[in-house]
Amino acid sequence: MTVFTEETRARAREIIARYPADRSRSALLPLLHLVQSEEGYVSPAGVEFCAEVLGLNKAQVGAVATFYTMYKRKPTGDYLVSVCTNTMCNVLGGQQVYDTLAEHLGVGHDETTEDGKITLEHAECLAACDYGPVMTVNYDFFDNVDAQTALDVVDELRAGGRPMPTRGARLCTLKEMAVQLAGFADERPGAVADGGPGEPSLRGLRLAEQNGISVPGFDPNTPIRSKAEADQAAAAAKAKAEAAQAAGAAANPPAADRKPAGDAARAQQRNLKEAEAQK
Ligand code: FES
Repeated sequence: MTVFTEETRARAREIIARYPADRSRSALLPLLHLVQSEEGYVSPAGVEFCAEVLGLNKAQVGAVATFYTMYKRKPTGDYLVSVCTNTMCNVLGGQQVYDTLAEHLGVGHDETTEDGKITLEHAECLAACDYGPVMTVNYDFFDNVDAQTALDVVDELRAGGRPMPTRGARLCTLKEMAVQLAGFADERPGAVADGGPGEPSLRGLRLAEQNGISVPGFDPNTPIRSKAEADQAAAAAKAKAEAAQAAGAAANPPAADRKPAGDAARAQQRNLKEAEAQK
């Protein structure tokens, strides 16, 4: 029944293996990103695939896929342009940015240009209010945009370019982004290294520095680890925690339970009888 490649199936197995065997349904969210990475949206076949590999029914998968806006239910363009029109961005010009793009591209909310390049959508707060008005392209941020900046970005995308967002790595397609959202490292050269945090994001850090507040061992320049390094660190941390737990159990065996089961219930009955007697 499946339209999915063996590579996607192997990745699905890898995702499921990240969760305890009796909690495999927790893998549904990354699996939905995974099927989206192959088809560009969560198709009926994608829903069926997730249901099959997790032992769920299609209604259960569909309920999740329709709840979250990041899962698209119809074919989406290579670049998902989301313009924040929520309160903060709106008063700073977000609606004007959206309206300008809609007119320029000839599409409305959740619609895709005829060339299949751009899907436009309204967004309700992209969690970057301090940079408003903001828009994202495949979830990478363009801060403090105005109508002209937004037009330049979509024109470059339609011409085949991959502009740099204000923060983060050079843009990738929505399918490539979905691979990352499924939990796989982006192996493109410079994919995680050619961007940096903006000054508003560092404002809290600067204030902490000015006021002599620090977190022991915190290094703002800590490089982002590769998946292999992260897995290795997680395995080491897990082994350390298990060893500490075993050592603690050996040194402090659980005390015998001196309170017989049902003691609390009997005490409650006694109290009720006493209360009845006092009436
Ligand atoms: S209101 Fe636009 S990012 Fe929050």
